[in-house]
Amino acid sequence: MSFESIKSVEDEYQVATYKKMGIAVERGRGSRVWTSEGDEYLDLYGGHAVCATGHSHPHVVTAIKEQAEKVLFYSNLVYSGIRGEAAEKLASLAPDPLNKVFFCNSGTEANENAMRMARMATGREKIVTFSGGFHGRTADAISATFLGKYREIGKPNVPGHVEAQFGDLERVRAVVDENTAAVMLEPIQSMAGVREAPPEFFVELRDLCTDRGVILIFDEVQTGVGRTGNWFFAGSKAAGGVVPDIISLAKSLGSGVPVGACVVSENVSANIKENDLGTTFGGGMLAMAATLATLQAIEQDGMLANAAHIEQHLRDSLAGRAGIVAVHGKGCLLGIEFDSPAATVHKKLLDQKIITGSSSNANVLRLLPPLCVTSDEVDRFVEALSA
Ligand SMILES: Cc1ncc(COP(=O)(O)O)c(C=O)c1O
Repeated sequence: MSFESIKSVEDEYQVATYKKMGIAVERGRGSRVWTSEGDEYLDLYGGHAVCATGHSHPHVVTAIKEQAEKVLFYSNLVYSGIRGEAAEKLASLAPDPLNKVFFCNSGTEANENAMRMARMATGREKIVTFSGGFHGRTADAISATFLGKYREIGKPNVPGHVEAQFGDLERVRAVVDENTAAVMLEPIQSMAGVREAPPEFFVELRDLCTDRGVILIFDEVQTGVGRTGNWFFAGSKAAGGVVPDIISLAKSLGSGVPVGACVVSENVSANIKENDLGTTFGGGMLAMAATLATLQAIEQDGMLANAAHIEQHLRDSLAGRAGIVAVHGKGCLLGIEFDSPAATVHKKLLDQKIITGSSSNANVLRLLPPLCVTSDEVDRFVEALSA
């Protein structure tokens, strides 16, 4: 099928809710995708931060195929070996004391469940989140999203959501009260333009939450599963070693098969009783095979070290370059801030068959490549910037 016929069918039958690039992707491998027209693109956007293991990683594909031959799905009403293995692997990689997993299907659902668990654990209702954070599009998650137009889209909002300023502990201190169940944050605000806070902010935030009996939630939908060069932002040097009570995950976790998860500490899980949470598809066998294989592939291929190396290589390559104000972020979650709108650069790169991402900061171009991206591929990107 030609691109034009693919486009016309999608445009006719899909609700027009996405701004699309003018290509149709047919297959992918590693950091490359090929289009309906046979063109090869370098994907530095990782299919929207999803394809951390690279497109169609052979280990993940084999695991999915083998599981599909056995059984595609049965719900949580039965036990499953592959579900147990995936939960055990995820819990073993998470920093202590996060040792229990609840599986669901997406990032927004992970955050909904994280907030619900915090309310159940504390018996309180209020949730504090930060300007610039994005947490998803279902009712509670969009009400927690103080970024651009999102809360407006989600009207009427769920009550009890309060905004604080990212990196400003005094503001958090002022809004946290005896009815606050949780403080939730994206530890690196990706969509806002890859905004970071210093480690001391996380350390002080952890202390405040502990002192006031408030659950701390890291939304690691983007930062988790190795993206920053550590398995999780939680517990990392950039977090000042801070471990929250809950981390929410999705995107990379299933290499493209929809999977979400909350990884929680015992003090949270002890408050969750039978039937308090649930989802039909969460923990299904196909999704669990993809999850386990994703974590194994990242480990076996040394992708955490590669993500850290790629960040350094890109920073070195862009140092002192005219027109670039700063490089933000960690590992393979990077934001290049230009001194003018990044849309022109984004388009110029796409014309040279390189896919990158925009952000809600007009001057920031986002890179969320697969964690297996190579230095040579980064060099191609850097050369294309000057072309
Ligand atoms: C930090 C963060 N949280 C939550 C979500 C929502 O995830 P999903 O689209 O899987 O519902 C996203 C999606 O972009 C995200 O970036």
